[in-house]
Amino acid sequence: MQYQVKLAGLRDFGALMKLQKQIANEAKHLAITGKDRRDSLLYAFAKTLVHRKRVHTFIALDEGKVVGYITAISGKFLKVRGTSYVVMGVLASYRGRGIGTELLKRAEELARGHGMHRMELEVFEKNEDAVRLYEKLGFVTEGRRREAIKTPDGYDDIIWMGKLLDERVASPLRVKDGKVTERIAA
Ligand SMILES: CC(C)(COP(=O)(O)OP(=O)(O)OC[C@H]1O[C@@H](n2cnc3c(N)ncnc32)[C@H](O)[C@@H]1OP(=O)(O)O)[C@@H](O)C(=O)NCCC(=O)NCCS
Repeated sequence: MQYQVKLAGLRDFGALMKLQKQIANEAKHLAITGKDRRDSLLYAFAKTLVHRKRVHTFIALDEGKVVGYITAISGKFLKVRGTSYVVMGVLASYRGRGIGTELLKRAEELARGHGMHRMELEVFEKNEDAVRLYEKLGFVTEGRRREAIKTPDGYDDIIWMGKLLDERVASPLRVKDGKVTERIAA
């Protein structure tokens, strides 16, 4: 099946909010749950407008339906402006088809296009599908917040992962059976 990936505009705001709510309701390894209070739509929209220069969202569409997203936020202050922090999600029924990989690649392309130095993200350690995806695209674990998350199954660590975009370490890694086998020359 063919998916379309595009930069979200203001007119996609409603669909994006709905998607994020659905992903929060169904995802086991996200900090926010359906029970958490969320910003009002008006407040969220105002934030989108205020921060639109440093926040970019790609959405994946299946015949017009928004099924996945990645938001890349560049640092607010001058000294951290070269860092792009990403957060992403794909509807449960659309996972495992390469949409997450495509979204993350597009966010990286954008970051490189803007001359960013690094990308970073936070992920629950037990979120194995997500960790595998990030490792596949060259992210490495940089730090750990021990037992920062309480889930019905016990505590989980949140790990920080990052990727440098303008050094050799940033070159894509070849992964086989979840293991890095070689670096592909940049
Ligand atoms: C993490 C997430 C965005 C990945 O999206 P995705 O579209 O499933 O990603 P892909 O299909 O590109 O790749 C996921 C990897 O998991 C594997 N996978 C296979 N079946 C899968 C399934 N049913 N569900 C999830 N991943 C699966 C894929 O094999 C792939 O690895 P590979 O490329 O080595 O084969 C998605 O699982 C998600 O939205 N999870 C809930 C929200 C979340 O955890 N967000 C990240 C917070 S840090």
